[in-house]
Amino acid sequence: MRLNSPQINLIVKACMKASRYLIRDFGEIENLQVSEKGPGDFVTSADKRTEKILIDELQKAHPEYGVLSEETGIINKTNISNRWIIDPIDGTMNFLNGIPQFAISIGYEEDGEIKCGVIFNPIMNEMFCAEKGNGAFLNNSRMRVSNKKKIKDALLVTGGPKGASKIKDKIFSEYKEVSKNASNVRKFGSAALDMAYVACGRFDGYWQREINYWDVAAGTVIIKEAGGFVDFFEEEADHPLKKNILATNSNIHVELRDLLNKKDIE
Ligand code: IPD
Ligand code: CA
Ligand code: CA
Repeated sequence: MRLNSPQINLIVKACMKASRYLIRDFGEIENLQVSEKGPGDFVTSADKRTEKILIDELQKAHPEYGVLSEETGIINKTNISNRWIIDPIDGTMNFLNGIPQFAISIGYEEDGEIKCGVIFNPIMNEMFCAEKGNGAFLNNSRMRVSNKKKIKDALLVTGGPKGASKIKDKIFSEYKEVSKNASNVRKFGSAALDMAYVACGRFDGYWQREINYWDVAAGTVIIKEAGGFVDFFEEEADHPLKKNILATNSNIHVELRDLLNKKDIE
């Protein structure tokens, strides 16, 4: 890997440390304590332990940095210039079901912009990372988005709706509309890996409503550095947390956005 900012080195080190426990937990999945966080959204003891290891490791180096992390929320509220954005396990439902499609996702944000990020699937031993201006890598190989030009040839991926969503019908209608026009659509259950897969050309595009910033923070810099395009649609201009994401290989971006914006989708 040819990325060497202090922040990316720290993230990689934290990921490697946390993943040792995660791999062990994955092997002992039936013993994990599961508690309900809300409909369709579960959190495990592995989530919490992974998050603690990551935050401890990152804070050891930079106690002054802010943190936004899924389970703990915000740490060091006053530092909004330098923040770690963390999802300790993205794809918890897969994890709980013994499906090796989940990842640690960490982005480093400077003055509101994600400067570098890592998405690490410890079971497949695939590390997707990028640094603004220095490219994107899958392990040691440079990554590039796909070259498909048309939605009709594209393999897309999406996620949701969550159990508690109030716009399920809209999300299903969009899924139907896109499915009618694309080559095919997948739902893999990890927003971070969905984005990583767009970055390395396995998928041509990804969209999802009602995501959280920590699901996609690292993915945004990884896709951009791999030559893709990331956009948040139907956002209120001053919304602090982006919600509806569209991320593609660039070529199919407008066509996919037009499909999602079609007036007759409920
Ligand atoms: C979830 C996954 C899933 C997406 C959900 C996310 P979690 O994250 O990324 O693919 O559809 O919107 O909440 O709960 O596994 O960290
Ligand atoms: Ca997540
Ligand atoms: Ca999570």
